[in-house]
Amino acid sequence: MKKSVLLLITVACKLTLIAQIQTNLPPIVGAGRAVDPYNYKIVKTQEFANASVSCAHPLASMVGAEIMRRGGNAFDAAIATQFVLAVVYPEAGNIGGGGFMVARTALGKNIAIDYRETAPNKATRDMYLDKEGNVIPKLSLLGHLASGVPGTVAGLFETFKYARLPMKVLVQPAIDIAEFGYVITEREAKGLNSTKESFIQNSTQPSAYVKEALWKAGDTLVNKDLAETLKRIRDYGQRGFYEGKTAQLIVAEMKQGTGIIGLEDLKNYKAKERIPLVFNYKGFDIIGMPPPSSGGIIIEQMMKMIEHRDISRYPFQSPQQVQLMVEVERRAYADRAEHLGDPDFWKVPLKTLANDKYLANRMIDYDSTKATPSNDIKAGTIHESDQTTHISVLDKYGNMVSITTTLNGGYGSRTVIGGAGFIMNNEMDDFSAKPGAPNMFGAVGGAANAIQPNKRMLSSMSPTLVLKNKKPYIVAGTPGGTTIPTSVFQTLVNLLDYNMSAEDAVNKPKFHHQWLPDQVDIEPTFAAETKTAMVAMGYKFHDRPQIGRTEVIRILPSGKRETAADKRGDDCVAGY
Ligand code: DON
Repeated sequence: MKKSVLLLITVACKLTLIAQIQTNLPPIVGAGRAVDPYNYKIVKTQEFANASVSCAHPLASMVGAEIMRRGGNAFDAAIATQFVLAVVYPEAGNIGGGGFMVARTALGKNIAIDYRETAPNKATRDMYLDKEGNVIPKLSLLGHLASGVPGTVAGLFETFKYARLPMKVLVQPAIDIAEFGYVITEREAKGLNSTKESFIQNSTQPSAYVKEALWKAGDTLVNKDLAETLKRIRDYGQRGFYEGKTAQLIVAEMKQGTGIIGLEDLKNYKAKERIPLVFNYKGFDIIGMPPPSSGGIIIEQMMKMIEHRDISRYPFQSPQQVQLMVEVERRAYADRAEHLGDPDFWKVPLKTLANDKYLANRMIDYDSTKATPSNDIKAGTIHESDQTTHISVLDKYGNMVSITTTLNGGYGSRTVIGGAGFIMNNEMDDFSAKPGAPNMFGAVGGAANAIQPNKRMLSSMSPTLVLKNKKPYIVAGTPGGTTIPTSVFQTLVNLLDYNMSAEDAVNKPKFHHQWLPDQVDIEPTFAAETKTAMVAMGYKFHDRPQIGRTEVIRILPSGKRETAADKRGDDCVAGY
């Protein structure tokens, strides 16, 4: 009896709170308001007393922070931030793509939500091969046939179970920005200009992303079609996207092109709660994403392979440190290619892959004086792009949310859904089109990641959390295709083993090895002496303009949220 009275009071309080928040919330977005889309600046690092967000665009971070300032929790902020990214960061923010969320509630519940795209029902194993069995270049990358069934909107509604504010409040800032426009940055102008022809070739109707003259920094981008699509989500919920007008527009666009996504594919799409991967590294609990992402398990493998080798005795980015990390990366990525795929279609040997004896055995041929050659199956070319996007959020209650979401390549398949204003993903390229044939990230795979209807393609996205003494400590993640797990791995080593600030951990030069191709990718500022020493040990190096765009929040001993946004982009922090 007492219990039910208590429950009633709690529900009544919650309803009153929601009602207050709903009615008392003045608009967040507008000229001169809390988030001004015509006048904003980029803040890279800051300590906040209560709550913070770090993500790829200032307007999205600011909306997330404002939502928390007005009574929302980290889940509310993450939802609102993602909707805004879908408007202001069209390279990777999306409702036409998919992603993963790893979170931990203030009460200590770990959560993993999988909203990865699926292969359409009409997909077949060899759909990207010609009659001779060769991969048809670009077919899984550009245009209508490159898209999987989008998962983001379903994922946001799955996340909503943990939120406090009404969904309407969370979608509205994105609607306002799409409807009344926002000022674009130089980086965005360049991205849109270089994609102009590709949008025209791969879409059947005009869209807000293409205009006669070239875009320039300071121009205002208005996307009325996208605003209407978001309004349908606001007014009809998940069905406002997967059914009704939006679904019809998606299917109409597919039919006008070469696409195979049908109404049933959309109606049947479901986000899934998975069991998060949790492991211990030197006393810290690390929480990661399980398959269909490869991220969590290969980070676990890499960290366990270095755990007992006391890496911090080597100076930061000395040949010894880098060589050890490269060798564990090589071994983990070899496992990725063979063993990982959608667990609903393929038995993934997770326990074995993380087993201590198994990992000790993997390192048995490790030689600290020379490179272990990768088995030369087929070398791939690495595509230079960082167009996935990561959001880290931590609120004043201790809810931690880490989300990585993507269209895959920059601006996805370049197909804009006519009349709906959003860009579709080209995630089908993350499947293995043919055993041993590299995808755009040079990743190879086989049966575990072959195309099957309704299957999820293997991912590298690695939203990650760290607990210290069982309490919230770090929220981290990054874009970067196959470099994602190695970037997160390095960021964690920088923080946990080298005691760096969040800012340094994110901005120090990165390196990457993925088994095949057998080379170490490095950023321009990577230590030249280390490279020279490692070349003498038999390593090949490959230059990349940048690796990752990592967003980190760490709780300092003072309780402050040390929040850092990667210097490599327009990434920005906000909080209070
Ligand atoms: O899921 C994956 O692993 C890829 N689709 C991620 C793509 C990505 O990070 C693009 N940015 N470089």
